[in-house]
Amino acid sequence: MASTFGAAQVLVASNRGPVSYEVREDGSLHAKRGGGGLVSGLSAIGPDAGALWVCSALSDGDREAVRRGVGEDGVRMLDVPADVHADAYNGIANSVLWFVHHMLYQTPLEPVFDAEFRRQWASYEAYNRAFAEALAEEAAEGAVAIVQDYHLTLVPGMLRELRPDLRIGHFSHTPWAPVDYFRMLPDDIAEQVLRGMLGADRLGFLTRRWADAFTACCEALVGGTGGTEIGVHGLGADADFLRKRSHEADVDERMAALRAEIGEGRRTIVRVDRTELSKNIVRGLLAYRRLLTDRPEWRERVVHVAFAYPSRQDLAVYRDYTAEVQRVAESINVEFGTPGWTPVVLHVKDDFARSLAAYRLADVALVNPIRDGMNLVAKEVPVVSDEGCVLVLSREAGAYEELGEDALVVNPYDVSGTARALHEALSVGAGERAERSKRLAAAGTALPPARWFLEQLDALRS
Ligand code: G6P
Repeated sequence: MASTFGAAQVLVASNRGPVSYEVREDGSLHAKRGGGGLVSGLSAIGPDAGALWVCSALSDGDREAVRRGVGEDGVRMLDVPADVHADAYNGIANSVLWFVHHMLYQTPLEPVFDAEFRRQWASYEAYNRAFAEALAEEAAEGAVAIVQDYHLTLVPGMLRELRPDLRIGHFSHTPWAPVDYFRMLPDDIAEQVLRGMLGADRLGFLTRRWADAFTACCEALVGGTGGTEIGVHGLGADADFLRKRSHEADVDERMAALRAEIGEGRRTIVRVDRTELSKNIVRGLLAYRRLLTDRPEWRERVVHVAFAYPSRQDLAVYRDYTAEVQRVAESINVEFGTPGWTPVVLHVKDDFARSLAAYRLADVALVNPIRDGMNLVAKEVPVVSDEGCVLVLSREAGAYEELGEDALVVNPYDVSGTARALHEALSVGAGERAERSKRLAAAGTALPPARWFLEQLDALRS
């Protein structure tokens, strides 16, 4: 794989990388480049400037690419043994750390810290060590390395030991749990996570609230943050990219198809998520059902366009949640649907062009997570929507800090309150809607991905 052996000036490490491979029927490898803030952020630097992305081989195609030595410039994929990766990614990162930071454990769904957990934790350590070693091998003297997210919390401390000359950062794309919740983790594990991260020179969070929660955990559990600097960088949407991409031909095609599904002259409430418990999709659907029950005047006049893309399907709790979303959507259609009107248009097959088409058609965007590091959908829809949209936004999304003033804010657990907010959102007049949407778009694009990344780089270098 593309490697710079000791020459990289800027390194990024993350579980999911910017590219993935698929083996075609004829045996050839097909590369697919992913989207997302980090990808566009790093492309502001690029391999010519000595930037290297260290990530994990996730698919069979990725592993085949590593075996064949195929790769892109500026990307090094680590082929960690599949069982080690499964323990670290499914077992620890997505079943334990994700659940702690999003506060998703609620009786009877409780964490189990048994021998199996300890075995998986050893894999999480090994997985983190593989990243630390690769970074140590690739980094030039005095280089900057920025490690991403809860999959890799131990990397900064490990890398510090291997390469004290580096400037090391870590960025969390998730919320951080409040101290009383965080210390649900076994004491030694909680301490290891905090000390691992504090191995960095600088830690980045998406909002002040998550940064403060992290600091509080350090004060309570390890006597403070020591010499580590803490910064807040509220990643914004990429306005230039979105405006251009959302007017390409494939998006127009999907708009026509969606319009046919929605029907003439109807309002649309749009949501786009990975199907994931923290996104609170089921309560969103229940709020829509309540709207149709309490405000029958909206029947036949509104459609809820819900895109719920499969995520982390190796885990039963995600699969069960996906099934529940489908069941509830279907039950609303059975209860209220008429021959000419399907109240919920649910799509589960990931399609970025269709997401943008839905954004363009949105009158109302529903973003109601239980907890969310930022939520970029909340920032993207106002930029893309043709007529401007009203945003119904959970106060527990990181985006609330920047968008709260111009959104209709909801408590994500309060289904009736969310139903009332949907009614209010649908009732906003065109002029006010356009005004609000413009302000949301401005606030949501204040820190585009490339600047978000460069800001951190500058802070680490100075
Ligand atoms: C969150 C995490 C990212 C992760 C993404 C998708 O946004 O912060 O690190 O890549 O979810 O999840 P996945 O498990 O598919 O990578």
